[in-house]
Amino acid sequence: MKIEEVKSTAKTQRISAHSHIKGLGLDDGGTAIQMAAGLVGQESAREAAGIVVDMIKSKKMAGRACLLAGPPGTGKTAIALAIAQELGNKVPFCPMVGSEVYSSEIKKTEVLMENFRRAIGLRIKETKEVYEGEVTELTPVETENPMGGYGKTVSHVIIGLKTAKGTKQLKLDPSIYESLQKEKVETGDVIYIEANSGAVKRQGRSDTFATEFDLEAEEYVPLPKGDVHKKKEVIQDVTLHDLDVANARPQGGQDILSMMGQLMKPKKTEITDKLRKEINKVVNKYIDQGIAELVPGVLFIDEVHMLDIETFTYLHRALESAIAPIVIFATNRGRCVIRGTEDIISPHGIPLDLLDRLLIIRTLPYSRVEMEQILRLRAQTEGIQIDEAALSMVGEIGTRTTLRYAVQLLTPSALTAKVNGRSVIAKEDIQEVGELFLDAKSSAKILSQHKDKYMK
Ligand SMILES: Nc1ncnc2c1ncn2[C@@H]1O[C@H](COP(=O)(O)OP(=O)(O)OP(=O)(O)O)[C@@H](O)[C@H]1O
Ligand SMILES: [Mg+2]
Repeated sequence: MKIEEVKSTAKTQRISAHSHIKGLGLDDGGTAIQMAAGLVGQESAREAAGIVVDMIKSKKMAGRACLLAGPPGTGKTAIALAIAQELGNKVPFCPMVGSEVYSSEIKKTEVLMENFRRAIGLRIKETKEVYEGEVTELTPVETENPMGGYGKTVSHVIIGLKTAKGTKQLKLDPSIYESLQKEKVETGDVIYIEANSGAVKRQGRSDTFATEFDLEAEEYVPLPKGDVHKKKEVIQDVTLHDLDVANARPQGGQDILSMMGQLMKPKKTEITDKLRKEINKVVNKYIDQGIAELVPGVLFIDEVHMLDIETFTYLHRALESAIAPIVIFATNRGRCVIRGTEDIISPHGIPLDLLDRLLIIRTLPYSRVEMEQILRLRAQTEGIQIDEAALSMVGEIGTRTTLRYAVQLLTPSALTAKVNGRSVIAKEDIQEVGELFLDAKSSAKILSQHKDKYMK
């Protein structure tokens, strides 16, 4: 199994609607502070989420699941993301939306399994033989291309490494030169090179080069102690999915047709069940030997009512397997038909047997004061200025419609204010925008009033 240099496949996402959320905002005793870490109100749900975080951290929750249930715009997605923030970046958190499973190319269960494995981390501790130090010289040595023709090739690289104890000059293979370039290593950087694999890791810039007026986001590290050539404990955090991908072979053989296929579907590799089993075996061995540690993370499935009976059944079984993450669901549905069945009605559209194993966290509608607090926070993060009268007006609109609609009014109102020659949103701007756009409820009302004018 390939374990060195496994690239992380964590989903990168910009969650701009929730960018003001920095955590659950609980005190040391686990009690919610009315307004903290970007969250407002919703105290009991936040406290419950705090307990879930504790359980995850103490590893008491693998294979369990909880459900955030409440009306639209009551902060379910926000709280799930706050949980992710609380867990920190060492615990994997894989967000997905129920509808993601419907793809014409990949099986529904395959999508679920992939995300399942993205949510399970493995922390690998290894003592490795490394060469570590501050780079004092980096010279590629070129020779004439041995194959004839033009140009030169790098035959080897001379690198000087310095530690507090001494310096060493190494002559390295050209393949390592490539990894040095990939990591953008320059003289003055602190790096280590793994003796066995030749993998290069840049740790940062040596702090002897730190200057007071340096504005760049650069991490400065002290000059390493000890010898250049030494044993070092290296910790690597990967997810099971990272391992799957790194060990999957590209599809197809070497013939032209399959190469074409690869061109059209770039980097498509097949991760089979067999491969996953193999990987699990190796992982278990590593765990037994004490080299690795399992870090069950969180799989967050938003809009869970979009899953159908087939995927629910699969999920239920997967939760029972030995290696499972914690699953957090969220939904705004009440009683509805379970997708993929004719007429089985169930709370939240989730089959009863699965529902039975869930811890349910309820979110409640916000009061007007809370809405105003949230709106103020949002305005701040979006860099929008709004006066008190206008804010209380949007708050009032929020109580009539939803928080989400009220939040959405902010940006167009800021634009309107600008057009009206103001830098701060005033009541009139909100009024103007309110006349231009409809919220869902009034739109539905108008639709039913003018039924006959719309196409059927
Ligand atoms: N308690 C809160 N504190 C601060 N911001 C919040 C809070 N609750 C919700 N928000 C913000 O309000 C907006 C709507 O909330 P969110 O998307 O979390 O609702 P939801 O319950 O997931 O709704 P839906 O059921 O429609 O998915 C988001 O921008 C969110 O960040
Ligand atoms: Mg949501």
